[in-house]
Amino acid sequence: MHIFHTISDLRAHLRAHRMLGQSIGFVPTMGALHEGHLSLIAASKAQNDLTVCSIFVNPIQFNNPDDLARYPRTLDVDCAMLAPAGCDVVFAPSAEEMYPEKALLKFDFGDLERVMEGQFRPGHFNGVGIVVAKLFNIVQPDRTYFGQKDLQQVAVVRRMMIDLGFQIELHPCPTLREADGLAMSSRNRNLTAEERPIAAHIFKGLTAAKTALLTGETAEMVKAQMATHFEQQPAFRLEYFEVVNAHTLQSVDKKQPDGQTALCIAAFLGKVRLIDNFVF
Ligand code: PAF
Repeated sequence: MHIFHTISDLRAHLRAHRMLGQSIGFVPTMGALHEGHLSLIAASKAQNDLTVCSIFVNPIQFNNPDDLARYPRTLDVDCAMLAPAGCDVVFAPSAEEMYPEKALLKFDFGDLERVMEGQFRPGHFNGVGIVVAKLFNIVQPDRTYFGQKDLQQVAVVRRMMIDLGFQIELHPCPTLREADGLAMSSRNRNLTAEERPIAAHIFKGLTAAKTALLTGETAEMVKAQMATHFEQQPAFRLEYFEVVNAHTLQSVDKKQPDGQTALCIAAFLGKVRLIDNFVF
């Protein structure tokens, strides 16, 4: 496995592979890797000659400096996981390499970012848009793989790819879960031993909400039940729970046709902000 820290070294390496006609799959990450990331690597390996994984904690997508400071940085451990998973190339640039000058570009994803993550993390999707567009231009992959846990991120990246005409196939991949249902996330490792079992209440709440919607309850009723569920869990601070159309991400008042309903949640458990969603 090759590890590159500069854009020029990575480009030179990938150019040689491209000239051999090899296809490139790309998994962008912020490191602190877990099985969920490895499933993206596996998906890329199944479809491409070469798999590239970027590891870059992108400062401009964090609106909260504490969250950025707390974000785990574990490059050596990450590389030790990626090599046996068959990843071919790791790109781990510094912030100076990615942003020699402050990025001035501003993305506005309209209604897609006025809700949920975009509403609670102002500027977040601008930072995601800039770094993903830049990484796409650097790596120039044929296919890219994103986790569905970040449903809104996938929607924003899809829209950016359409608007900017990126000729890259976007492959959203299913969320991987722990045995108790907690969605795998780099942030889970910041949970304390006491918090970790409580974190499963997110999955329990989503499961109950899904059942209620499938049995004909309205979004309003389900949202009220979710608020009560979290009031009974004082360790949590529910930031939002929304019933939305899975494509537009706008609120809906009842279950949508199959595959088009998404339940999206963000909650703080102690200092750790967790997000999750169900699409059905
Ligand atoms: O999902 C993430 O880890 C990040 O938002 C991404 C896509 C790597 C951009 O920094």
